[in-house]
Amino acid sequence: MTRSIRPLVAGNWKMNGLKADLAIAAEVARGYDAALKQAVDLAICPPATLLFATSAALIGARIATGGQDCSTQPAGAFTGEISAGMVADAGATFCIVGHSERRTLHGESNATVKAKAEAAHQAMLVPIVCVGETKEEREAGKALAVVKKQLRGSVPEGSTPETLVVAYEPVWAIGTGLTPTAADVAEMHAAIRAELARLLGKAPAAAIRLLYGGSVKPSNAAELMNVANVDGALVGGASLKSEEFLAIARACQS
Ligand code: PGA
Repeated sequence: MTRSIRPLVAGNWKMNGLKADLAIAAEVARGYDAALKQAVDLAICPPATLLFATSAALIGARIATGGQDCSTQPAGAFTGEISAGMVADAGATFCIVGHSERRTLHGESNATVKAKAEAAHQAMLVPIVCVGETKEEREAGKALAVVKKQLRGSVPEGSTPETLVVAYEPVWAIGTGLTPTAADVAEMHAAIRAELARLLGKAPAAAIRLLYGGSVKPSNAAELMNVANVDGALVGGASLKSEEFLAIARACQS
């Protein structure tokens, strides 16, 4: 953790969740007690169909919500797309952009991810820009270079700690139960902070929240959250279980 940075634990529900699963959000709200509220910010990124209802259910608990993606375009004839303005209108504070599942399954380039992050800014949303290397890239010793290139291509100019969150999610760690070593996470997060300093300036870069994502669970959260320059987590699978999500949040408390 970075002492001066308030951590953020964000849950990415992906394509999971029906109306009945609003109960998960309500349980998280109940467990977000005064001590936890003082120590860590929480956000839930449900599927778009549940975003408005989740935002409404969580507003009293001071838990933020986020979209999982947004269009590069503000409005118009883009059937099936959801604009950043719509995500904001549904009550969200954040919007995940450039998740590896979008980059891989929908062929999103760094330029597309940047345009989405800029669209989020236009709508007063804070983009959570995801970066991360594949297994092949790590094995070839290219992980740092790949992630730096993604940052250069995906992060909007002029981003500040108030308008940007970065999530490092090694593709091979997402949903697999595998995680990098603490030393590898430390090396990557330091490199991300250094690259952001080159792109945005040293002072803003020092205060931007850098989340780790990829198989974060209650059993490994404390170790991962203790790594230098890790300022919270982006949680997939475990965010669908309120007790696990809260346990990960508690790991940021100390
Ligand atoms: P996981 O997913 O926690 O299920 O590995 C993380 C993510 O994709 O954001």
